Amino acid sequence: MAMRIFAERRSIRRYGDRPVEEEKLSEVLEAARLAPSWANMQCWTYIVVRDPGVKEAIAATLEGNPIQKAVTSAPVLIVACADPEKSGNVNGQPYYMLDIGISMQQLMLEAWNQGLGTCWVGWIKEDEIRSILGVPQNIRVVALTPLGYPAVLPDAPPRKPLEEIVRHDRW
Ligand SMILES: Cc1cc2nc3c(=O)[nH]c(=O)nc-3n(C[C@H](O)[C@H](O)[C@H](O)COP(=O)(O)O)c2cc1C
Repeated sequence: MAMRIFAERRSIRRYGDRPVEEEKLSEVLEAARLAPSWANMQCWTYIVVRDPGVKEAIAATLEGNPIQKAVTSAPVLIVACADPEKSGNVNGQPYYMLDIGISMQQLMLEAWNQGLGTCWVGWIKEDEIRSILGVPQNIRVVALTPLGYPAVLPDAPPRKPLEEIVRHDRW
């Protein structure tokens, strides 16, 4: 069942009007909540945006991004924020990015399981979105995703074959 979701999940950039049921939204957020994190510090905060005016304002910051239109047409927008102080930093690797990435991916896979589409949006103007949403300066706005029923299911983009990405016993 998990493998089917891994294989079939797609980044959705066209959404229908059908609203997202509150129970489904709760399940999706619950999946994010259950994610593992550095020392279990759970550095994340999710902002659920339904206000059309706020969605419009965020969409206006996404000029040139292929997701721009979907940000207003999807019924819900989820903005992933992280507190770097609530995670580790080892060998120059800021683990809050990993924590929020794992949590967001759990959210997205559960969304697909519920018949809902999402799309990672990482190419953002962080300061503009922070200001629209009133996010404190010490909190990073890492990514966002629309959430809604897919209107168009794109073909699967290719992935590298296993032989190309797996090495055995050494590099
Ligand atoms: C960290 C990250 C950032 C991304 N940022 C964007 C983005 O800003 N805009 C967009 O349309 N898609 C974005 N994507 C979606 C990728 O383009 C997409 O996952 C990839 O092409 C593979 O397609 P699939 O998700 O349907 O398998 C992002 C994906 C990841 C993982």
